[in-house]
Amino acid sequence: MDTNKVAVVTGAGGTLGSAMAIDLGRQGYKVVLVGRSLDKLKVTEEKIVAAGGTCMCLTADVKDLEQMKALRETVVREYGLCTVLINAAGGNQPTAVTTINSFDPAELQDGFEGRGFFNLDMERFLDVVNVNIMGTVIPCRLFAEDMYKAGGGSIINFASMNAYRPLSRVPAYALSKAGISNFTQWLACYLAPAGIRVNAIAPGFFLNDRSRKLLLTPDGGYTERGANIIRQTPMKKFGDAQELVGCMNWLINDDVAGFVTGITVPVDGGFLSDSGL
Ligand SMILES: NC(=O)c1ccc[n+]([C@@H]2O[C@H](COP(=O)([O-])OP(=O)(O)OC[C@H]3O[C@@H](n4cnc5c(N)ncnc54)[C@H](OP(=O)(O)O)[C@@H]3O)[C@@H](O)[C@H]2O)c1
Repeated sequence: MDTNKVAVVTGAGGTLGSAMAIDLGRQGYKVVLVGRSLDKLKVTEEKIVAAGGTCMCLTADVKDLEQMKALRETVVREYGLCTVLINAAGGNQPTAVTTINSFDPAELQDGFEGRGFFNLDMERFLDVVNVNIMGTVIPCRLFAEDMYKAGGGSIINFASMNAYRPLSRVPAYALSKAGISNFTQWLACYLAPAGIRVNAIAPGFFLNDRSRKLLLTPDGGYTERGANIIRQTPMKKFGDAQELVGCMNWLINDDVAGFVTGITVPVDGGFLSDSGL
């Protein structure tokens, strides 16, 4: 087991980032857990430490260049140069989501109680684009420099089913995840001469704190949207974060994936393959 390898995982207190961070810890990586709330990161830290792993929690907003520069200095000082970066921070906000699936003339009238495209708060819209796009671009830029100095590395970004075709109601999230796939391709080409591979995972539907409320009813049944997703997922279930870990391990392994760069890998229980007919 190589215990000198350093992995940075953003969103390490979240559903998917925590599973990846815990697995990297199990493999002997020194894992840097990044997020805004220390309490969420501590839960992941406890699991890594309990399994005999090494990690540290560093709080920062991934879309804030100055905070991330300071974080990177701490990583280099405490652990050394990172060779793996998992960009799992990101997500959506309820106020950037429309409450209707398609245009309703009522949204142009005073007193409309829902949220159509014409009523969305553009500040909240931009927040979602920023956290998903700049919250990936900034860590890539900072840690790719360290990977180059270390002789190479691997970056994994997080796209979504929205990267292929936008889901209803989530325009800001959908466009930002399509942007992640595009940026992953661009960066993979740009960084190939630096020995850095850049790929993305496009998860299907995994329950997290936010989506649980959207997809499940209080008694554990499916909401209408939850039921629609399950209907279009041939495996007839939501994903479990552990089911993404193998994809990460394949992508970061130079021995078996050394020629793989610039791709977005769906891990979706067949959602993309189902035409809905
Ligand atoms: N779950 C799914 O079904 C699914 C599907 C497709 C794509 N994805 C994508 O996969 C990634 C991980 O999803 P998840 O389900 O694990 O989400 P999650 O459980 O909500 O975790 C996301 C984590 O990101 C952190 N975060 C959010 N904004 C941040 C910021 N500005 N700076 C630093 N950290 C921030 C959050 O912690 P703090 O709030 O404490 O900062 C949170 O712990 C996201 O990019 C998501 O869009 C998820």
